[in-house]
Amino acid sequence: MSDATPTSSPRESWNQRYDRAEYVFGTEPNDFLREVADRIPSGPVLCLAEGEGRNAVFLAGRGHQVTAVDQSDVAIAKAKRLAEERGVEIEAVVADLGQHRIAPGAWSGIVSIFFHVPSDLRGAVYRRAIAGLKPGGVFVLEAYTPAQVGLGTGGPGDPALTPTLAQLKNDLTGLEIEIGRELRREVIEGTGHSGWSEVVQVLARRAASR
Ligand SMILES: C[S@@+](CC[C@H](N)C(=O)[O-])C[C@H]1O[C@@H](n2cnc3c(N)ncnc32)[C@H](O)[C@@H]1O
Repeated sequence: MSDATPTSSPRESWNQRYDRAEYVFGTEPNDFLREVADRIPSGPVLCLAEGEGRNAVFLAGRGHQVTAVDQSDVAIAKAKRLAEERGVEIEAVVADLGQHRIAPGAWSGIVSIFFHVPSDLRGAVYRRAIAGLKPGGVFVLEAYTPAQVGLGTGGPGDPALTPTLAQLKNDLTGLEIEIGRELRREVIEGTGHSGWSEVVQVLARRAASR
């Protein structure tokens, strides 16, 4: 199933998809986030489009003060429940990232895992994210690329919602790209993402102030 259906608003589609006991993308963190988590400096982390909270809960368990934002109230309720079950605290906020203010210079890490929106919205959100990082803070991203469309293992059906590495480098101008790669990998995350997939992974850092 693709990541959103065109029959209702994106928020409604996501609410319908999340409205079940099962965690659609599982309760374990994204593999790329787990791989690079040591590179996020200690301090507060903002998880964009965080869904049901698997990444936020993982980061809270590593000692970060975590804020998770998603447009879906159903997902955010599940994120709060997962945090409670795991005995960690997260701040979980229902908001549309198109309007949501990101506090400038406040975050040691900003995480964007499988956030697929039109390029103008993505660019606007990521500009705010860049300004939101503290000096030395990192931006962590994994997303499907246009080559994913049609594979049937997850992600949106519209390639315009998926970024290439070149587009992301443009979106993230001003940050130093420490990891930037497109690759084919097996993504096993709940029933929502399951199988060989075409993804882009980025770890980018705001320069430390001198
Ligand atoms: C594929 S899910 C990924 C969820 C989570 N990042 C994860 O990896 O488990 C995409 C998420 O993006 C959220 N989303 C899409 N557009 C959004 C927007 N404009 N504002 C806030 N959340 C948005 C959806 O509600 C959905 O939860």
